[in-house]
Amino acid sequence: MAMVCLSDFEAHAKKYLPKIAWDFFAAGADDCSTRDENILAYKRIRFRPRMLRDVSLMDIRTKLLGTEISFPVGIAPTGFHQLAWPDGEKSTARAAAATNTCYIASTYSTCTLEEISAAAPGGLRWFQLYIHRNRAVSQQLVQRAEALGFQGLVLTADLPYTGKRRDDVRNGFRLPPHMKLKNLEGAFEVCKMNLLDPSVTWNDIYWLRSLTNLPIIIKGILTKEDAELAVRHGVQGIIVSNHGGRQLDGGPATIDALVEVVEAVQGRVEVYLDGGIRKGSDVLKALALGAKCVFIGRPALWGLAYK
Ligand code: FNR
Repeated sequence: MAMVCLSDFEAHAKKYLPKIAWDFFAAGADDCSTRDENILAYKRIRFRPRMLRDVSLMDIRTKLLGTEISFPVGIAPTGFHQLAWPDGEKSTARAAAATNTCYIASTYSTCTLEEISAAAPGGLRWFQLYIHRNRAVSQQLVQRAEALGFQGLVLTADLPYTGKRRDDVRNGFRLPPHMKLKNLEGAFEVCKMNLLDPSVTWNDIYWLRSLTNLPIIIKGILTKEDAELAVRHGVQGIIVSNHGGRQLDGGPATIDALVEVVEAVQGRVEVYLDGGIRKGSDVLKALALGAKCVFIGRPALWGLAYK
């Protein structure tokens, strides 16, 4: 079959991945209304196209915090890439470097940060952090990423607890025994629990700031109030995100939330978006509404599943 658009890769992944892996990637929280809204919202937005503008030369390069990428689409952090392809995050890193874009590696990668770096040495990478109750574990991860040349720290703010993804509950989803959360190996022998810290607040941005010189990008912002707080707490970037609809069901589509965030920020920090990007025209809509760049989550996993 000719692969013409991302839906073709989605259909391929659905057909060939084990059901339990497909369900995990596809899952949204509760009724999946926010997951689905991320996509539907783009269909409601219409262009107001202008003509005769000399488009013989097109330059879609952009910069993320000063570093050039070849087009304004990066790879959002998602966990467990070995569920899609045996080489897991190493393949993702290679693909991102080959297309000269940014790959945000998840705390919950099935390859170590060292393996990811070695797979694509020159690539632009940011590290996504979930803060654990055992703060020493998180501190070590941040400092490891910085030492390995990751160029940004992405703090995910929308997962104090994990959303209820019904198919994962039904399937009794867990990582197969031969896959590991490689970055955390050993950590939980020490702290005896694999638990995220639900007590994280804005003040923890200052704690992160004390650990690292990396720019801090906060992921999961959906309102002007939180955008203002993010700027006031000194972050360098904001990712408007609802975690692909996997966390709080009932929140807005990210493309709808983008407008108030961009308005509140007034250019003081870079604003990015993820959630529901499936076509070039979706990217264009997000850029037209003020995003500097967008990121894709599930589509990168479908790509991995397609080799
Ligand atoms: C995610 N997402 C996510 N976010 C994060 O900060 N850390 C993580 O480890 C994960 N893991 C994860 C796994 C899977 C299977 C999915 C689908 C998503 C959320 C992700 O970064 C992003 O916000 C959404 O995936 C964007 O929506 P689309 O592009 O999948 O529609």
